[in-house]
Amino acid sequence: MPGEVILEVKHLNKHFKVNSGFLGLQREWLKAVNDVSFSLRAGETLGIVGESGCGKSTLGNCIIRLLRPTSGEVRFQGMDICAMTDARLREHRKEIQMIFQDPFSSLNPRKRVFDIIAEPFRVHGTARGKALEEEVLGLMGEVGLDRSYAHRYPHEFSGGQRQRIGIARALALRPKLVICDEPVSALDVSIQAQILNLLKELQAKHHLTYIFIAHGLPSVRQISDHIAVMYLGEIVEMAPKNELFARTMHPYTVGLFEAIPVPDPGKRKEKQLLQGDIPNALHPPTGCCFHTRCPHADEVCVREKPRLTDMGGGHFLACHHPRRGSYGQAGEDQAGAGQAGEVVPGVGGGDVHGADVGALGTGGDAHGADMGTPGTGGDVYGADVGAPDAEGAG
Ligand SMILES: Nc1ncnc2c1ncn2[C@@H]1O[C@H](COP(=O)(O)OP(=O)(O)O)[C@@H](O)[C@H]1O
Ligand code: SF4
Ligand SMILES: [Mg+2]
Repeated sequence: MPGEVILEVKHLNKHFKVNSGFLGLQREWLKAVNDVSFSLRAGETLGIVGESGCGKSTLGNCIIRLLRPTSGEVRFQGMDICAMTDARLREHRKEIQMIFQDPFSSLNPRKRVFDIIAEPFRVHGTARGKALEEEVLGLMGEVGLDRSYAHRYPHEFSGGQRQRIGIARALALRPKLVICDEPVSALDVSIQAQILNLLKELQAKHHLTYIFIAHGLPSVRQISDHIAVMYLGEIVEMAPKNELFARTMHPYTVGLFEAIPVPDPGKRKEKQLLQGDIPNALHPPTGCCFHTRCPHADEVCVREKPRLTDMGGGHFLACHHPRRGSYGQAGEDQAGAGQAGEVVPGVGGGDVHGADVGALGTGGDAHGADMGTPGTGGDVYGADVGAPDAEGAG
């Protein structure tokens, strides 16, 4: 049963000031997240997928406010996180947590597992003594770690076990929203499945809401209710998972689907693989940002930016010439079975998408006075959390 809307992201922008040009003397704005809007209901999972560098982590870090957005709103349970004071934010940090890709670098190597998982309780003063011990050992049990491991150090564990420690720590304060930033990308395929199953079990048990970030569709497919596809800082297609698989419309999404290996040789077919390099995010292409790699681009695509448009059925698309591919039912291994050649008539540039998500425009040049403020850092549980190097190039 879908719950109430717990998270609304409206026209979110994060622009970094970077050095460029000859000897790096020029200062330019890099639009890492460009006018992103979506909403998410309690208990659901939004998968965010796209190639490396498309802005997934920056988006996640803005939502948890490890980075301060350039403009836009992040409403969590109705309150704008971007506008919160640090004291207010500290309270909210209990309710939004993050799981990182690399469990090794996000766990303090000098701390025992017990202290790593206990740290959130200590920082927020929510448990001590016997109660703390029960909480930590209980969490270890929930994520499938034997309690006898409590006094070991992170290097004594495998990658999958380390990710379980990271999950236990993220769940310590009983958050409502968990941002999982490529939590299985560094793991072997068999271990990936175990961690995804664990995340699903914990979601059902604690009614968690997830944002699940990945660079490829397979893991996103397993866990998501909705999927947003990002390219160069923008959402180019977003739909309920089954809808996205049954009616794939954006040529970039088609390319991501076709990149999934098909084990059954009988199902292999001519693929529309993604060609060319991702353009420099500092100087994105004119018009449609995907036009330099799109096999269907024409002069309209080069000239005019397609707006994210409501195609019906909760399906939003930014493309002048949508395809209609089908990749079977989500969750089944039918990737590559699609026919993505058909063009959907009479769409493109029409309605701007729905009231509850907000219109996605061109993204403009919204970097304002608060630009470049470093993330509040620190308080996700101090140094060992592996907070990204906020605004390093700013
Ligand atoms: N602190 C920063 N300073 C300048 N540019 C950054 C910074 N962090 C990320 N970027 C740039 O923003 C874009 C999006 O990065 P990121 O969010 O890490 O992408 P992803 O997580 O999808 O791989 C990339 O072009 C990246 O180089
Ligand atoms: S707008 Fe044009 S270039 Fe962009 S994805 Fe659609 S067909 Fe390709
Ligand atoms: Mg990333």
